[in-house]
Amino acid sequence: MKNTFSAYSIIQKKRDKEKLTKEEITWFIEGLTKGEIADYQMSALLMAIYLNGFDKDETVALTDAMLYSGKVLNFPEQYFIDKHSTGGVGDKASFILAPIAAACGVKVPMIAGRGLGHTGGTVDKIEAIKGFKTDITLAEFESLLHERGLVLIGQTSEIAPADKKIYALRDVTATIESIPLITASIMSKKLAEGAKGIVMDIKTGNGAFMAKLSDAKKLAESIRQTGLRFNKNMMTMITDMSEPLGSAIGNSLEIIESIETLKNKGPADLTELSLALAGGMIYLAGLSKTHKDGIAKAKAALDSGAALEKFRELIIHQGGDARVIDDYSLLPHTTSTYKILATKNGFLTKMDCKSLGMHCVQLGGGRQKTTDAIDFAVGLMMEKKIGDKIKKGEALVTIHCHANQMKLAAELGVMIAKKDITITATKPRAKKKLIIEVQTKFAPKKNKR
Ligand code: URA
Repeated sequence: MKNTFSAYSIIQKKRDKEKLTKEEITWFIEGLTKGEIADYQMSALLMAIYLNGFDKDETVALTDAMLYSGKVLNFPEQYFIDKHSTGGVGDKASFILAPIAAACGVKVPMIAGRGLGHTGGTVDKIEAIKGFKTDITLAEFESLLHERGLVLIGQTSEIAPADKKIYALRDVTATIESIPLITASIMSKKLAEGAKGIVMDIKTGNGAFMAKLSDAKKLAESIRQTGLRFNKNMMTMITDMSEPLGSAIGNSLEIIESIETLKNKGPADLTELSLALAGGMIYLAGLSKTHKDGIAKAKAALDSGAALEKFRELIIHQGGDARVIDDYSLLPHTTSTYKILATKNGFLTKMDCKSLGMHCVQLGGGRQKTTDAIDFAVGLMMEKKIGDKIKKGEALVTIHCHANQMKLAAELGVMIAKKDITITATKPRAKKKLIIEVQTKFAPKKNKR
């Protein structure tokens, strides 16, 4: 029987707070992908979803329709595990956890994103390494994954093309911050990558898209439930993003900090989070009995140097110059720095993490327009963390900039000292926990016939 749907009636139904059927949602997304639904109709539906919500069934139906708008890979064995972060400032954990997990026997298919707003992108950062190819075909991606156990590429138009269209519309129609829309956007891409399990790092705090913990919890629940409905093993970790992760913000600087961490000389918070996420991947892969045992295995791979060697292998097999591991001067770098000094004694109690991320974008380390080229060399090094005792005259931040950017650096310096970093006379009562909540759910085993 031919269906009689119309874009108008589906938009009207959601506008009037009615539940959409799977068939209606599928029809709408297929129409968008084929170019038969206009952008203004999709935008109207997005706003209706933003205002009136989607329940679990509708969210799963939307995820499914977006997932099957493109190619779907399938690695059904339990040891194929993917990881995703909702994005933060200075978040370079993927470069550490992926080689750790791969060194422990997990197969890691990573299709990562580019920078978005104030958050940096894994693909932009790895491209700071000369020659590293992130635009290989899906066929090359699959064969590298089987042979090497670890591969890292950028989004391809073959994976979830509906998300690309929808995301671009959400970005300009004020419909980004919607839990069902974020769930479907992230999960359609992650499910298409075919891994059997997914570890999701959901950031909360002033540098995250989900600034409020209550929203981060709702997103975690929605992502877990959607993953389970697609028979995936799921771990969600809610982690703090009220200060940058580690010290480095900016592409080359973050690669250096990642290599230092793989050499076991990295910042404590970045090391802790990378081990927890890698341990989660090992656990979901069935290669440890508990998450705690997974973390112990991850730590052993870091301590032995096996993870660093896996990272070297990744660079070599994707055409990059692996000499950067031993010689950081081979990475793009600036010749000038500008130090921001503390103007009083006290304790660092608060940072505006989002604003610090935006300063890096302004220096050229991220894009203000999609067509902008990235400057890999520039960035910020945070010299202090929340809770640290501060002495007047000490460096709070070092800006890595080019000689012709000293005026901009000085202007950013004023903003950072006045607004982005708060120093108080008394020590903050308790520092926020880095890892706030971990929940794991294994998909029910399929009944044997
Ligand atoms: N990341 C995504 O891929 N999609 C969203 O909607 C938000 C963050």
